[in-house]
Amino acid sequence: MERRKFLKTCCYTAIGLPLLAGTLHSCAAAIYYAPVTKKSNRLVVRKAAFWQLKKDKKTPRNFVLVKTTEMDFPICLYKTGPDTYVASLLRCTHRGCELNVGGGMYTCPCHGSEFSIKGIVLEGPAETNLKTFEIVSDNENIYILQS
Ligand code: FES
Repeated sequence: MERRKFLKTCCYTAIGLPLLAGTLHSCAAAIYYAPVTKKSNRLVVRKAAFWQLKKDKKTPRNFVLVKTTEMDFPICLYKTGPDTYVASLLRCTHRGCELNVGGGMYTCPCHGSEFSIKGIVLEGPAETNLKTFEIVSDNENIYILQS
């Protein structure tokens, strides 16, 4: 490799790596596991979990993940309106892989199925919608009803 080409490649790498690290960091920061308590058949999540402090500024989260030690897969609690939420089990209905959350949808890393945030199949091979849970809420908490 020519010296000039080698230096150019090194320069692009030196610039690109910090940008990539910043992007990965912001992706990782977007996934937040909310503290959860279990009361009989309800998972209780505080509404305050949908707020985060960024540079002394309170910013909203679109969704939080919920998982207890008894659960094999997390539940994604997605905020769909001022006081409306959808809770979907992040288990792909095709062959059971754990779904990723991002871009306003769920995607399966195994075979590429896609689901809306309401758990509806958008793209196969999955044919069945995600398991969703009934939600109730009060002024402070959101209750995910497990059957
Ligand atoms: S397990 Fe998700 S698409 Fe196959």
